[in-house]
Amino acid sequence: MTVIVGEMLHAELGAVLQHINLGVLLLDEQCRVSYWNDFMAVNSGKDSDEVLGQSLFEVFPELPRLWLQKKIDGVFALKNLAFTSWQQRPHLFNFCGSRPITGQVERMFQNCTFCPVIDASGTMKYVCLTIADATETAAQQLELERLNELLQAEKDEQSRLIHKLEDAQAQLLQSEKMAAIGQLAAGVAHEINNPVGYVYSNFSSLESYVGDLFSLIDTFQLASQQQDAAFRGQIEQATQALDYEFLRSDMAALVRESRQGLERVKQIVQDLRDFSHIDSGDWQLADLHKGLDSTLNVIWNEIKFKAEVVKHYGELPSVQCLGSQLNQVFMNLIINAAHAIDKQGTIWLETGTQGDWVFVRVRDSGSGIAPEHLSRLFEPFFTTKPVGQGTGLGLSVSYSIIAKHQGRLEVESLPGQGAAFTVWLPVRQAPADPPAPSPAG
Ligand SMILES: Nc1ncnc2c1ncn2[C@@H]1O[C@H](COP(=O)(O)OP(=O)(O)OP(=O)(O)O)[C@@H](O)[C@H]1O
Ligand SMILES: [Mg+2]
Repeated sequence: MTVIVGEMLHAELGAVLQHINLGVLLLDEQCRVSYWNDFMAVNSGKDSDEVLGQSLFEVFPELPRLWLQKKIDGVFALKNLAFTSWQQRPHLFNFCGSRPITGQVERMFQNCTFCPVIDASGTMKYVCLTIADATETAAQQLELERLNELLQAEKDEQSRLIHKLEDAQAQLLQSEKMAAIGQLAAGVAHEINNPVGYVYSNFSSLESYVGDLFSLIDTFQLASQQQDAAFRGQIEQATQALDYEFLRSDMAALVRESRQGLERVKQIVQDLRDFSHIDSGDWQLADLHKGLDSTLNVIWNEIKFKAEVVKHYGELPSVQCLGSQLNQVFMNLIINAAHAIDKQGTIWLETGTQGDWVFVRVRDSGSGIAPEHLSRLFEPFFTTKPVGQGTGLGLSVSYSIIAKHQGRLEVESLPGQGAAFTVWLPVRQAPADPPAPSPAG
């Protein structure tokens, strides 16, 4: 848009321009002021007689000279309208805010236009600079932005809380599931315990009866030597037909192996009972080695083909703990170790004490853990296992159980060099809930 100005403005038009609620000033190519309306005079505190004919930069040294000069030069060169909004340059002139009541805005936000002024002969002598007060809009927009930021922060906080809630719920479900499995195992173990008990005791009787029967047969055989040849032949034939010698030796082996099998069943039942600690859901003094061994037996099937288990047990005092829950932790750590071993490897179980603390370390010769995964291991649902193979809850549940014991769960690992998870537990629980001290040493 260009404005063509005749020799003189109409007086009416001049009056409008003088009083309009908009800053209007004319600048020549050297930025000398040729027109200055009331808006400019009121807001700058400088009357037109102080400003007219003067260089704008001398009267207002605080103006951004380089930028403004370039803008005006551009309009003279191109004879085109230019514009800057308050978002780009909030305050060109340092005018006071027009919202004194709220007191929130100290300086006036301004929208500026630079308009080429061309006379009838086509010569451009001036740039008309208009300054519009945009404080109202700017204040509203800034307030909106502030509220938006607040809302966004609140939204972020809410989704963080929802996430935390989901994690807690998942952990609770997993704990409940494990507790239910423990109860089931203990129930089954209890049911099996009785029949196995009487089979085992009958078996001892059976073993001694079989021995008695064989010694009776020996006596008969010896007595048959005294009999005539026909009788002896009959006995010999029967002995050979039944393969008596094999039967006798195999019977002993059968009885021995069956007894061992029964002992194994008894041990498994006992381990299941120990593992689930069903009799005591409360804090108790427990032998952690016993817990480790029974856990190992319960999950033996998962590891026996992959790993040799080497135990380096130190001397451990009884530890005040929730036994079945600690066994869950040992189970998660040992199964993870077995999973980390590709074909064949070793799992070391190490225990010991340091001051008033005990530790149980599960170390493996498996694949190790990538450094970028180390900090995420205890997050619920973090897993590197294929879908359907790992839920990613084992370590997060273990972490919560150890935290409940005022202990710590530490991990050390390098890719390709195995991993070591160490459970640190205080021997006795502090009465209240003080922060866990570091282990001595
Ligand atoms: N001993 C280990 N060696 C290497 N990586 C391990 C070891 N233990 C844990 N990890 C890594 O930590 C991840 C998380 O373990 P976590 O036990 O929490 O879940 P998961 O084993 O994947 O699934 P699940 O819920 O069945 O236990 C595993 O997916 C694995 O990448
Ligand atoms: Mg796991």
